[in-house]
Amino acid sequence: MTERLAAAQLDRAASLLHDGALVAFPTETVYGLGGDAVSDRAVAAIFAAKERPTFNPLIVHVADLAAAEKLAVFDERACAIAGRFWPGPLTLVLKRSTACPISRLASAGLETVALRAPAHPLAQALLRATGRPLAAPSANRSGHVSPTTADHVLDELGGRIAAVLDGGPCRVGIESTVIDLSEAQPALLRPGGVTREQLEAVLGHLGDTGHAGAPRSPGMLERHYATARPLRLAATTVAPDEALLAFGDPLLGAAVTFNLSPTRDLTEAAANLFAALRALDQARFKAIAVMPIPETGLGAAINDRLRRAARGRAN
Ligand code: TXA
Ligand code: MG
Repeated sequence: MTERLAAAQLDRAASLLHDGALVAFPTETVYGLGGDAVSDRAVAAIFAAKERPTFNPLIVHVADLAAAEKLAVFDERACAIAGRFWPGPLTLVLKRSTACPISRLASAGLETVALRAPAHPLAQALLRATGRPLAAPSANRSGHVSPTTADHVLDELGGRIAAVLDGGPCRVGIESTVIDLSEAQPALLRPGGVTREQLEAVLGHLGDTGHAGAPRSPGMLERHYATARPLRLAATTVAPDEALLAFGDPLLGAAVTFNLSPTRDLTEAAANLFAALRALDQARFKAIAVMPIPETGLGAAINDRLRRAARGRAN
């Protein structure tokens, strides 16, 4: 049985983590499947619970920059970026420091480590109560849509993990932006809660994995965020046997409609995205038609997740 813990039971969550057990916890982006990042056994248990291929490294969560600096090499750029966006929905890939105690398994054998200081008050409280870095990928089974409520976590991982700390729905709703600062040329590995525009205001023009040839982030694997039903993107019409994921004024005639944001607010749309995909992914629909979403700001991250989910179906 997986325990559902209220915010007041934070100490129970911390003591389970201390004992090497797995506890899902809320962050401002999505729920994370947490385990002691220093413990190979806890990290291995995360891979097993998620059924995640072990070549895909995990994000390690810390309370703040001071905790992060013990784990990785921060140059001036990394300090500036962390100072500007932490705590928040941004993950930095950096070279592991020589004495980095993080499990090698969490880095999937790479010489780098992905670090993030989450802004959610419960995540912050949990990190401070456990006093250690927590490895936490999104708390879904590998390839599934990320969870944005404790109920989603229980649907995905109930019976496989010790507990979930319930902090209500996640505010941002889409995963963190991942930026690689381990090499001279910074690279945007995954669009997310902090936009490219926000990062470029600090770093200047950013390359992405496409420029580097082979993907620098295994998380860029295409089969990701899959729904069981096919997604039809940029839909301008909808059939009666389709569910509609709407944005703005909805198309008429769908079997059922979930509107990401009637007012075309991209922040609201990101917060609703994964709950909407879960709600619409039902056997009675032939497909999920998705209305066009602008590619600006958070729209880039929303479209990235939708394209992956659509491609995941194609093979
Ligand atoms: O918002 C988020 O980032 C959520 C919450 C729970 O913090 N976490 C999350 O973790 O989405 P996960 O494990 O599902 O995604 C981690 C991403 C993957 O794309 C992974 O390949 C990449 O980060 N990553 C992790 N470590 C890396 C490394 N050393 N080098 C390159 N990419 C790395
Ligand atoms: Mg994930």
